[in-house]
Amino acid sequence: MSTIVNREKTEFLYQQVAQLIREMKAQNTLQAGQKLPSLRNMAAKLNVSIPTVKQAYLELEQQGLIEAKSKSGYFLKAMDSQYDKPKRRRLSSQPIAVNKQSLIEQVYEAIHRKGVIPFGIANPIAACSTDKALARTMRRVMTMSGHQGINYGAMDGFAPLKKQLIYRYLDVGIGVDFDELIITNGAQEALAIALQCVAKPGDVIAIESPTYFGIIELIENLGLKAIEIPICSEKGIWLEDLSNALQQHTITACVFSTALNNPVGSLMPEQNRADLVALLESHDVVLIEDDVYGDLYFNGPRGKPAQYYSKKGLVISCASFSKTAAPSYRIGWLIAGRYAQKALGLKRAFSCSSPLLNQWALSEFLASGDYDRNLVKLRQILRSNKERMIHFVLQHFPAGTCVSDPQGGCVLWVEFPAGIDATALFHLALMHNISITPGSMFSASNKYQRCVRLSYGLPWRDEVERALIKLGELAASLQMKKQSAT
Ligand SMILES: Cc1ncc(COP(=O)(O)O)c(C=O)c1O
Repeated sequence: MSTIVNREKTEFLYQQVAQLIREMKAQNTLQAGQKLPSLRNMAAKLNVSIPTVKQAYLELEQQGLIEAKSKSGYFLKAMDSQYDKPKRRRLSSQPIAVNKQSLIEQVYEAIHRKGVIPFGIANPIAACSTDKALARTMRRVMTMSGHQGINYGAMDGFAPLKKQLIYRYLDVGIGVDFDELIITNGAQEALAIALQCVAKPGDVIAIESPTYFGIIELIENLGLKAIEIPICSEKGIWLEDLSNALQQHTITACVFSTALNNPVGSLMPEQNRADLVALLESHDVVLIEDDVYGDLYFNGPRGKPAQYYSKKGLVISCASFSKTAAPSYRIGWLIAGRYAQKALGLKRAFSCSSPLLNQWALSEFLASGDYDRNLVKLRQILRSNKERMIHFVLQHFPAGTCVSDPQGGCVLWVEFPAGIDATALFHLALMHNISITPGSMFSASNKYQRCVRLSYGLPWRDEVERALIKLGELAASLQMKKQSAT
């Protein structure tokens, strides 16, 4: 490499270094998501100074070609940040009853089929499994728990686990009382309890659009109505739209993921999050914060959960270990605040308590530091998978396809050009052993017919790349069919 930079040329050395990296990317010598050599290594390879390389990296970063990640170095992005992102949608301003069950059942069935490439399931830890470390911990717990291990656990949860969680919330500036934290069966039960603490059948709940279909399903099953508030793919909820909805309707509560919405991966800037809580509390509307992806941010440090900004105690936080340790353990929690007593009554009525051994193992897993060590690796792998997947989508999907730029989490939101129906693509892809999640599942009003959610929470192998190429071909075939029919 040392002969490539030429001191006789009129361009500055840093421009030559930047050009060299652009060419290596164009020729695929450097691949999307790949880490660039450190400043020192690159300078030594090219026989230039460290400030020259630094200047080149800064220029490429400004052009959106590479990104700096705190304490990790510089990484190649999938494409210039100028690529097309999904657009804001016009949504109905009226609350609606919802019905999502049938399509959800089909998608769930598909992800459990043997041999299927599981783009349809958001299971990030598949990319960096905790199984061995957790199995070791669980064996130890089973040996030491003795008779207690098979007894009923405390209704509000295993005390050492609750203490671990309380300790972790201190890191983000939130002091949680022992009694307001309740361990649940996953975040799904936490959300169900939170909704039933504050709403009764017929009440209107504001949700993000698009949003996680499990929330829509809950609203449907609890006899509530949904009003969809559009989100911006980078910054989350559009506060102006929310403010208009609050003026037009009696909204009882909102269920939002301010940190890393599923399926878009948006992350609300801190100020917007503070403004969101202030806006809702000025209307006495409860915010149920779904924070399951909060720990999977790509650019740290972790932001403050919405609860931090609450002045009136109208924020309920729900989260779980499903995306960061073990979804099969079904361990989540809610910080119910002023609703703690009602929430505990609902927990008792629904499931009495959550599996004790699973809570015990997770509390040991946290205490040993294994959880945080795995999390660091998991974030790195997901970040790199994201870049690779964006790269493949932009290269192999039909022209005009738009892709989100998630700020964390494990899913990509893809919007196809006209003529491609995502539900038809779901059925077609399944015939080729590829599972995807059709976009309409993420809307109470069946929007996003041209969108799909793809999970990059999987080990990256050649077969993943082949499946993405195939998916692009299948989408193109649907588009051609549509064009020849019209
Ligand atoms: C945004 C969101 N919230 C809640 C849940 C439910 O989490 P759990 O598996 O812990 O019940 C999920 C699961 O996929 C999710 O994506």
